[in-house]
Amino acid sequence: MSHHITEARDLFYVYPDGRQAVSGISFRIHHGESVGIIGANGAGKSTLLMLLTGILRPAKGEVVIGEVRLTKDTLNMIRQRLGMVFQNPDDQLFMTTVHDDVAFGPRNLMLDEAQVEERVISALEKVGISHLKDRAPYHLSAGEKRAAAIASVLSMSPDILILDEPTSSLDPKSRRRLMKILSGFEHTKIITSHDLDMVLELCQRVIVMKDGRAIADGPAKDILTNKTLMEEAGLEIPLSLHGCPVCGRSKSDAD
Ligand SMILES: Nc1ncnc2c1ncn2[C@@H]1O[C@H](COP(=O)(O)OP(=O)(O)OP(=O)(O)O)[C@@H](O)[C@H]1O
Ligand SMILES: [Mg+2]
Repeated sequence: MSHHITEARDLFYVYPDGRQAVSGISFRIHHGESVGIIGANGAGKSTLLMLLTGILRPAKGEVVIGEVRLTKDTLNMIRQRLGMVFQNPDDQLFMTTVHDDVAFGPRNLMLDEAQVEERVISALEKVGISHLKDRAPYHLSAGEKRAAAIASVLSMSPDILILDEPTSSLDPKSRRRLMKILSGFEHTKIITSHDLDMVLELCQRVIVMKDGRAIADGPAKDILTNKTLMEEAGLEIPLSLHGCPVCGRSKSDAD
């Protein structure tokens, strides 16, 4: 696992009802890269992330993490290095308190209680929800749940962070705080989002999905400014790249 390369080799996935959600996706993501996966609703982004984390098993193709092929036998070992924040926080939070949800991963790593506590406090502080530690996750607001889900993954100190729509339901301050945490995370990040301004700010590389296929893979700025490509994918260029209606300059011109 020395280089933490994340590789998808010709991945296919078909849901039990026959819906083909991923159709021949291949890419190689190097350690330290920050990659945005974008596409319209139903394009296959969440399914792809679930294949990368071994939650779903591909019908064809394979996932390789740091030279290790993802199989039933390697799944536990790979999961210790790879943290995924689900699109729906209710899929991630299942304990009776936020504290215990955030402690769950470190406890599974067999750390002693003092180390577990240190990790929990640090993860809760990072996402700004220390005050929620004794609350029941199922009584939290959508944004608070998302922050708790992110803390439950950060407490594992993953080498590869996979986030499915991390900024959805966050208020502007919490979104900004999360973006700051993510930009300070020096390992690999793979992020799906409809928040294209966040993708532009955090990701150097973008993969565009449409109908289960990758229709583009390249530098974020080239992709996110390509109006034809974005329209083909059912997307729009990020707001921060729109021209000012008065002077025509975009925000990035001013940077
Ligand atoms: N459990 C399921 N059973 C059958 N089809 C499914 C299931 N989950 C997702 N799909 C279908 O697979 C396709 C890809 O879904 P997926 O959730 O991966 O899309 P997405 O790109 O993440 O969309 P969104 O932007 O809405 O989150 C869609 O057509 C969806 O309807
Ligand atoms: Mg999704």
